[in-house]
Amino acid sequence: MEKYVINGGNKLYGSVKVQSAKNSVLPILAATVLADGPVEILNVPQISDVKNMVKILACLGCKTVYDGDNIIIDSTSADCYEIPSALARELRSSVFLLGAVISRFHSAKIAYPGGCDIGLRPVDLHLTGLKRLGVQISEKSGYIICKCDRLRGNEIMLDCPSVGATENIMLAAVKAEGTTVIKNAAREPEIEDLQNFLNKTGAKITGAGSGTIRIDGVKKLCGCEYQPIPDRIEAGTFLIGAAMCGGEITVDGAYPENISSLIHKLTENGCKININNDKIVLENHRTLASVKSIETRPYPGFPTDLQAQYTALCCVCSGHSIITENLFETRFKYVPELRKMGADATVIDRNAFVRGVERLKGATVVACDLRGGAALVLAALAADGSSEVLDISHIDRGYGAFEYKLRMLGADIVRVTV
Ligand code: UD1
Repeated sequence: MEKYVINGGNKLYGSVKVQSAKNSVLPILAATVLADGPVEILNVPQISDVKNMVKILACLGCKTVYDGDNIIIDSTSADCYEIPSALARELRSSVFLLGAVISRFHSAKIAYPGGCDIGLRPVDLHLTGLKRLGVQISEKSGYIICKCDRLRGNEIMLDCPSVGATENIMLAAVKAEGTTVIKNAAREPEIEDLQNFLNKTGAKITGAGSGTIRIDGVKKLCGCEYQPIPDRIEAGTFLIGAAMCGGEITVDGAYPENISSLIHKLTENGCKININNDKIVLENHRTLASVKSIETRPYPGFPTDLQAQYTALCCVCSGHSIITENLFETRFKYVPELRKMGADATVIDRNAFVRGVERLKGATVVACDLRGGAALVLAALAADGSSEVLDISHIDRGYGAFEYKLRMLGADIVRVTV
């Protein structure tokens, strides 16, 4: 077990480079199962979710080779359609493999996926979508078992714009007979990135980024080289950190338009933000002003994956804020930990009511999930005195070289093995 030891109070200065988006890389890795030929994915983040996904691909018989930060996957020799339960439980995104594996083998067996414990996280929309393409699905002893003779395109209307269901259906439909149309599709930038990747391998997909995606099935996909989009959540986490600690940082290699909802809020908070192509410069030397209310929404709304970090920021603003979480039921587990640091925050149902305090104070806190863990790190960096953040394996799921990047910005943070 590892923990972070953090001495708070340092302002952040300097430049930080953004990693490739975790939520792009994971479905793209799943998609490599469909390619006849090697796929090279560039600048893959060194995070445990990616390492686990690569392990699953190896178990399916794919050849996987790291070349520095790039990874080459050759699925030509893949010969297994069962996703090992121990790994599937480690990683929510293992469920994306369902669509790809069923397309490749016409059979798939996967344990119910794991991942962050932030709510019920059902997969009913994934399964309903796959059924519409001709997949027969049964469930036995915690496994989802899928079979089909052939996959046929169809129209699929999602009850809500689920990111994972949209991606899974795209992966199952890409080599199906005929045309699939997904309506009420998720519009997250990572969906468009998956479309761009698949099209580079020979797929015929249009519309990703809008609510309607059209997939004309093709017979074959080939290998390619691909650079995924930058991680908007990592970029946002550093921006929030600099806003809370004060200082001036440049987030380099970002797509600012993908986090415009956050940039608007930080400007309202009183931060000075300048955008120059893929560089976002944030400067703050004052106590932040609170925003009255903020709600998480599907893209382009405020991302649920930045909710915890932004709530931590609200804890050091002057004034009150109400933060509403609309996507996941139990995504406020970090709030009692923030209270240990002196935050004045109360959760009722899906709302966190926060009254900003002048300074947080160091404490020992426990990371309960990926983004909640990141929020605790930011709070500790902004706090007076020393903090320990325990159980940081949650943070390692999504932030590559997190403490190294923060140290480069002037933070006093070290990883300690307990
Ligand atoms: C993805 C992201 C995650 C992000 C989330 C929302 C990845 C690897 N993960 O998760 O970081 O927080 O999008 O932006 O890309 N739902 C159902 N039935 C389903 C599927 C989802 O009811 O079959 C509901 C969920 O409970 C939730 C909402 O739909 O309330 C959105 O979930 P979804 O978009 O599917 O999130 P994930 O794909 O799991």
